Amino acid sequence: MSKNFRVLASVAMAATLAATSACSSTRDAEESTSGSSGSGGGLVGIAMPTRSLERWNNDGAHLDDLLKKAGYTTSLQFADNKVDQQITQIENMINQNAKVLVVASIDGTALSPVLEKAATAKIKVIAYDRLINGTPNVDYYATFDNYLVGKLQGQFIEEKLGLKDGKGPFNLEPFAGSSDDNNAKFFFNGAWDVLKPYVESGKLVIPSGKKIAGEEDWKTVSITGWKSETAQAEMDNRLNSFYTGGKKVNVVLSPNDSLALGIAQSLASKGYKPGADYPILTGQDADLANVKNIQADTQSMTVWKDTRTLGDQVAKMIDAIVKGTTVEVNDEKTYNNGNKVVPSYLLPPVVVVKDDIKTKLVDSGFYTADKLGL
Ligand code: BGC
Repeated sequence: MSKNFRVLASVAMAATLAATSACSSTRDAEESTSGSSGSGGGLVGIAMPTRSLERWNNDGAHLDDLLKKAGYTTSLQFADNKVDQQITQIENMINQNAKVLVVASIDGTALSPVLEKAATAKIKVIAYDRLINGTPNVDYYATFDNYLVGKLQGQFIEEKLGLKDGKGPFNLEPFAGSSDDNNAKFFFNGAWDVLKPYVESGKLVIPSGKKIAGEEDWKTVSITGWKSETAQAEMDNRLNSFYTGGKKVNVVLSPNDSLALGIAQSLASKGYKPGADYPILTGQDADLANVKNIQADTQSMTVWKDTRTLGDQVAKMIDAIVKGTTVEVNDEKTYNNGNKVVPSYLLPPVVVVKDDIKTKLVDSGFYTADKLGL
């Protein structure tokens, strides 16, 4: 067996193995791990934003596992959502002569100086899930189609409410993700391109008075750091101030699951119960707690991004970079980082509702039936 074939075969094998174990990663405290197995591949630095959200633990563990099984040495770091900590971690990876850096940035605009050091050291950089802005020194971007994530949320709302059939008016509360995350705008725009015509026609009314007309207005509904507690407090405020005298919210646009968790808490505290009057509530990531909420009818859907496939794709990109072969991309126009269009690989996100939890999340091995009480 040639060496090239061996490495690819082991990446494929690791992908299969990881497909059955991706969700069993443990949730340690915020800490770093590094590991080495095999030889020859060289060091790959993996900088993840935080352990506080389930998805980043799974992402990190899966990619780390794939790379180790393919003979690479890895340095997997989590930065507690602190930008300075992430920069220091990346600096250390550069000092350790990493061949490739995989970075899921906390603030996509804050990494230019450290990535200049990486470029000087001839280290290739892959932006993972989130684009890194304002620098020429990001070589590739691997992500899910972020605009489509938002569009799927918008279309779900449109369909559930029967907006196309002229139904309404309905009370909507929109939320957006952290404004330092380049993805947040894509998510919001995807949803808003579907919903905005109905806001303009009066079929969707926003009792809190949040006006989203201009390019940057989505920031007025953004939740810094994607925090559940902040989303909960914001929803509490809106319900307390604008939903008096029996007024009910009919739909909440939440860009992801961490916000949806907080929003669901707020709704529960204000007496909203699962059933016909419970608002439509969107999400993204298929986090375990949210899938349980979908089972319990306190969240309507989630947009599932099978992070195992993202890891698989990034592992292939790394292998191609290290071997000097062509790196596969499928989008060379969408992601302009303010300095250049970054060649990207976009994966398709998938809507999950209560009825297809088993077929989509369990049958694919993303969750065991056990975990979901199925
Ligand atoms: C990711 C989402 C995630 C959010 C919060 C975004 O960049 O694409 O999957 O929910 O960050 O961590």
